[in-house]
Amino acid sequence: MRTPLLEISNLTKQFGGVTAVNKVNFNVFPNEIIAVIGPNGAGKTTLINMITSIVQTSQGEIKFSGESITGRKTHEVAKRGITRTFQNLQIFNDMTVVENVMVGFHTRTKSGFFSGGFGFSSARKDNKIAYEKAIEALGLVGLKDRKDELAMNLPYGLQRLVEIARSIVMEPNLVLLDEPMAGLNQKESIELVRIILRLRKRGYTFLFVEHDMEMVMGISDRIIVIENGVKIAEGTPEEIQRDPVVIAAYLGEEIIPHA
Ligand SMILES: Nc1ncnc2c1ncn2[C@@H]1O[C@H](COP(=O)(O)OP(=O)(O)O)[C@@H](O)[C@H]1O
Ligand SMILES: [Mg+2]
Repeated sequence: MRTPLLEISNLTKQFGGVTAVNKVNFNVFPNEIIAVIGPNGAGKTTLINMITSIVQTSQGEIKFSGESITGRKTHEVAKRGITRTFQNLQIFNDMTVVENVMVGFHTRTKSGFFSGGFGFSSARKDNKIAYEKAIEALGLVGLKDRKDELAMNLPYGLQRLVEIARSIVMEPNLVLLDEPMAGLNQKESIELVRIILRLRKRGYTFLFVEHDMEMVMGISDRIIVIENGVKIAEGTPEEIQRDPVVIAAYLGEEIIPHA
C-alpha cells in the first residue's frame, strides 16, 4: 500500500450558517495529478484554502506526509512543501518576471523569515540562490528569455506561467492550482497542459481545481467531484464521465468534452 502525500479526512468548513465544505475525504498520492471539479460555489477554493491554512477548518483533519497540518500557520504549511496559485492572477505589475518568481522563494535565514521579493540587502546570499532557482523555474515553463521584462507587459497566458514558475521555485512536494486555465486561449491552454505534464515527469504532484473539462479529463489520474460542499464522486476520468450521479449534477452537460 502506497503512503498518501495528502490525506483529507472529514474536512468541513462552516462560514456562519453556510457549510462550504462538508465532511470531504480523499487522498493524493505522490506524483499524481488530481482534479477537483464542481459547480461555482461548490467549495473548491475553500478546500484549497483549508489545505494551505488560509482558512481554518471547522472540523476534520489534513495530513501531509503522514503528519497532521490542521491548524498550522500558512508559512509552516508552505515550508513543508505545499504551494499554490490563486483563482485570480497574483502578479506584481511593477516587478520583472524573475522578481515575480523570486517572491515564491522563502526560507529561514539568519536574518529571519525571508521572502524573495523583499529585504534583499539583509539576505544577499539567499537572494542569489533565489535568483538562480527562479531562473531554473522559468526555464521549466519556457519563460527564461522573458526574465527581465516587466510582468505586466506579458500576455495574460504568460503571466499565468509566471505564477506557475513561482509556485515551483521552492521545489514543493504538492502544488495546488485554483482554475489555472481560466482566461487562457486554446494555444495557451495546450501549453499549460504540456508544462504540467512535464513537471509531473520531474516528480511534482498536483491537486487542481478546473472547469475546463477537456483538460480535466485529459490530464487527471483521478477526479473528485464536489457539489454543495459534499464529495459526490471520485474516480478516473472514464469512471467520472459515466457516473450517473455526476451526469445528473452536471445535467449531462460539459462533463464529456467535445472531441
Ligand atoms: N470567506 C468566506 N466567508 C463566507 N462565505 C464564504 C467565504 N468563502 C467562501 N464562502 C462561501 O462558501 C461557498 C463555497 O465557496 P468557494 O469555495 O469559493 O466555491 P468554489 O471555489 O467551488 O466556487 C460559497 O457559498 C461561498 O459564498
Ligand atoms: Mg473557486
